[in-house]
Amino acid sequence: MRVILLGPPGVGKGTQGLLLCEHLGIPHIATGDLLRFAVKWKTEIGKKAQSYMEAGELVPDDVVLELLKTRLSQPDAKNGFVLDGFPRTIPQADALAASLSEIGHHVDAVVSLEVPDDVVVQRLSSRASCPTCGRTYAMKDFAPSQCPSDGTTLFQRDDDKPDVIRKRLDVFRDQTAPLRRYYEERGLLLKIDGVGGVDEVQERLVKAVENR
Ligand code: AP5
Repeated sequence: MRVILLGPPGVGKGTQGLLLCEHLGIPHIATGDLLRFAVKWKTEIGKKAQSYMEAGELVPDDVVLELLKTRLSQPDAKNGFVLDGFPRTIPQADALAASLSEIGHHVDAVVSLEVPDDVVVQRLSSRASCPTCGRTYAMKDFAPSQCPSDGTTLFQRDDDKPDVIRKRLDVFRDQTAPLRRYYEERGLLLKIDGVGGVDEVQERLVKAVENR
């Protein structure tokens, strides 16, 4: 199954994506995580992406597409994947459809997670992230300094500062939100209420994807 998770920063794409992947037995592919690794290891792609990410802007399509195509060509992605944070523009969506069609595949479902802006701002301002496994924790309720899953020291993302969060929300509205309509017109869009506990949202998500 090939699923896309769509939604603004902080809506829960990473949290829900990892759980959905465990449930479906397919890889979780998050372009944000791939880009953060590229920045950390100072690769050519990382050098091109860093300033855009720090400013809360989108990394140019050609850079992200190069990274994504490499990841999708790996054997574990052959039988499906959950995409988190990709596509973010209509050219990225067109490029994904073209790449999949070349190998006889297509996107099966696009889930739009829906949460009001004030909730996402609050979630992002209190997020601690694990650089190893990608899990996130809400510092407001629970503030571990190390990842309970693998022991790595947690960190706060540079782009989780209030002014950058606001910029990322603006960018989502201008450049990514039009994808809801794009996928609705193609009969692929499923809308899910992202407010509520993590397990509750996951239950809605699994139900929607399995009944699509
Ligand atoms: P990316 O890493 O994709 O960030 P994002 O889309 O802004 O999304 P986030 O990771 O911030 O949030 P999320 O929806 O995954 O929420 P999470 O589950 O962590 O992108 C970063 C940057 O990379 C972009 O700004 C851009 O520069 C670049 N980039 C990436 N992809 C690109 C692309 N395709 N094209 C161009 N540029 C690209 O949850 C958030 C918090 O809430 C956590 O603390 C979590 O524990 C908590 N939480 C989750 N669910 C719940 C719940 N139900 N109740 C309470 N708390 C919850």
